[in-house]
Amino acid sequence: MSLPISVPLFDLSRLGTQVDEAVCEAATRVLGHRGYVLGAEVEAFESDLIAYLGGGHAVGMSSGTDAHLALMMVMGIGVGDAVISTPYTFFATAGCIHRTGAEILFCDIDPATFMMDPASLRALLSSLEKDADGNLRSPKGNRIRLIVPIHLFGTCSDMDAIGSVAEEFGIEILEDAAQILGAKYPSKSGSKSAGLIAPTSYVSFYPSKNLGAAGDAGVALCLDEEMADKLRRVRNHGMEQRYYHKVVGGNFRIDAIQAAVLRAKLPFLDGWNATRRANAASYREIFDSAGLLDRVILPAEPFAASGLRDHHIYHQYVIRLPKRDAVMAYLSEHKIGCAIYYPVPLHLQECFAYLGHKQGDFPASEQAAKESLALPIFPGLLPDEQQQVVEAIKQALN
Ligand SMILES: Cc1ncc(COP(=O)(O)O)c(C=O)c1O
Repeated sequence: MSLPISVPLFDLSRLGTQVDEAVCEAATRVLGHRGYVLGAEVEAFESDLIAYLGGGHAVGMSSGTDAHLALMMVMGIGVGDAVISTPYTFFATAGCIHRTGAEILFCDIDPATFMMDPASLRALLSSLEKDADGNLRSPKGNRIRLIVPIHLFGTCSDMDAIGSVAEEFGIEILEDAAQILGAKYPSKSGSKSAGLIAPTSYVSFYPSKNLGAAGDAGVALCLDEEMADKLRRVRNHGMEQRYYHKVVGGNFRIDAIQAAVLRAKLPFLDGWNATRRANAASYREIFDSAGLLDRVILPAEPFAASGLRDHHIYHQYVIRLPKRDAVMAYLSEHKIGCAIYYPVPLHLQECFAYLGHKQGDFPASEQAAKESLALPIFPGLLPDEQQQVVEAIKQALN
């Protein structure tokens, strides 16, 4: 059967002229006043973001990756420490842990959600021994300092369960909220904004994120004011007074132009997230009427019953299917956008060979890397295009 139209995986031009105009106006304003680095534009964005999230402190950074690095530098994480995360994710999290000099420890994911499995976390922590001072140590002798659950694809990790394991073992949590700005989490103590569930977190504004900059940008979020002051210092080479360095930091400064663009786009975010959710609901209907629900696993919505509108913001629409590579080849041949997030779990990446892991160490992560496929979900995706994506998958499977 023929497939008449090509479908992009993502198309920023479909956000519309109102958004384009707001972005151009913001960028032009910065080009006009020439205050390119930090300053009032950045402060205004940080305060709008905090108002949007409903609390906490925001420190704009040059990228999500840099925000994560800055947070760990402020926490003093380095050689002699160990940080726990998951292998099925984007590289940045583990890359930052490595760069601090800390040891990376992995626990596996929950296959239903692709995110940190609290049972696997508990098993890992329970297998470790305490030193004479009561600090939990890795087998290599490093002190366990931090757990980094990663909210993947648009809904939150099981933060209550992870939080209670973390509390039991006395370890802090930093949320990787890179993909999830605007989502809400139904914690046992009430609804929380993703990014403000743990004491610290960070968000990425990479252009394809639900709120994307016109280049790279990110933000570190925290609940503690003193931490925010330290982050501001570390973002700017550890300076408070110019050329007097209290601590060693980096150049993690967000460009004023990115802050202005993000501030202009922020009021549209909830609408885009609602569109993404509506697209996900349409996919469910189309996959169902195509009779594919026995062969394709659609994304889980673990918090749908909470009644929270933004329990999922569908940053990506990631399905699972056994013949993934053949389906992907068919979709690509017919110009249907799709992508694998993520093809190689981090414990099997060449640069982490020194950790000594092998195939089979984290089976749920390895399986997800083999079976997952992201389909177009962006705001502006048309109903006919969604029909065609599903039709192409049906043809590929038949
Ligand atoms: C889960 C996750 N963590 C971290 C990052 C890093 O963010 P950035 O690309 O802004 O450095 C990303 C962004 O791609 C991400 O998806």
